[in-house]
Amino acid sequence: MKTTILIAQSYGQADVLEYYTQELPKLASGMTRIQVKAAGINPIDARRMTGEFKHSALPQTFGTEFSGVIVEVNSNLSSWSIGDEVLGSGGSFTHATIIDVPNENLIKRPQSISWEVAGSLAGASQTAMTILDEIGKVNSLLVHGASGGVGSITVQLAKSRGIEVVATASARNQEYLKSLGVTPIIYGQGLTERLKEIHPDLFDASIDMSGTEEAAQTSLECVKPDGFIGSIAGKRLSSPRIQAVWVKRNPSNLKYVVDGIAEGHLKWNVDENNIYPFEKAADAYDNILKGHTRGKIVLVF
Ligand SMILES: NC(=O)c1ccc[n+]([C@@H]2O[C@H](COP(=O)([O-])OP(=O)(O)OC[C@H]3O[C@@H](n4cnc5c(N)ncnc54)[C@H](OP(=O)(O)O)[C@@H]3O)[C@@H](O)[C@H]2O)c1
Repeated sequence: MKTTILIAQSYGQADVLEYYTQELPKLASGMTRIQVKAAGINPIDARRMTGEFKHSALPQTFGTEFSGVIVEVNSNLSSWSIGDEVLGSGGSFTHATIIDVPNENLIKRPQSISWEVAGSLAGASQTAMTILDEIGKVNSLLVHGASGGVGSITVQLAKSRGIEVVATASARNQEYLKSLGVTPIIYGQGLTERLKEIHPDLFDASIDMSGTEEAAQTSLECVKPDGFIGSIAGKRLSSPRIQAVWVKRNPSNLKYVVDGIAEGHLKWNVDENNIYPFEKAADAYDNILKGHTRGKIVLVF
């Protein structure tokens, strides 16, 4: 069996991406072979492509999440069967037609969740659950850059825990944030003053998805002195008060979000114009590099 993989042999913009086809090795113990149906793109894929993050040697592969159909299982002992429809996470290799994934990373795809949604859940969901775990019990939360992949689910999970959420996005995404049940506010000049008008009390916590100095300074002014100020952006932190938050992979956290979406408590947004055929991956990577994704960008196979 062969697989076609998205690779890059050098760092750069999306024109470094190419396709490479190779024979798959014998399926290793504890692994399941999957024909990929959809795979989300996360900013980390594009940031690895440009060389901002150098997590692995060149040539490098991409993609940390997927949905698909099982085409081979390792033994009769596996609880999975050929033909099962699954979703899950994998480390930097899911932008490929056929992938081998550790059994423990697999979750059954609920029929009510489309391939595109299922394939784009793992990264942002597990990041959002990590954020809320690290923030702990709070009553109010400020979220910077909330209309993207991580923000969209973070604000909903926070609301579902009874937390009052005020969240920033551009003007284009104010209605979208309202539709997620939170109070939206436009980022940009005068953010602190506007925030203090709509929310005079200091926040218990804030989390930043944008990595801007504006977000950092606004949080320092608008969060209680003993409150939690976190950033997931992976950029230089401008104050020792700001804590870097890194995703902890946890299939049960992913399952929690999958169930919430299947049952209709949580929304997951994949705009039609954010769905790209695998053959047009470079266009999708170009798009995510712009930094203004609403919801998720997904490759389909
Ligand atoms: N630490 C970790 O473990 C971890 C895990 C996942 C992601 N990340 C990082 O976290 C960041 C967010 O990830 P994501 O998947 O949510 O990204 P995304 O889907 O690309 O969304 C980014 C959001 O940022 C907003 N934005 C752009 N410019 C902004 C500004 N100047 N001020 C405030 N918001 C702004 C955009 O909203 P508008 O379109 O309305 O401008 C967009 O919705 C990325 O840098 C990613 O690499 C880190």
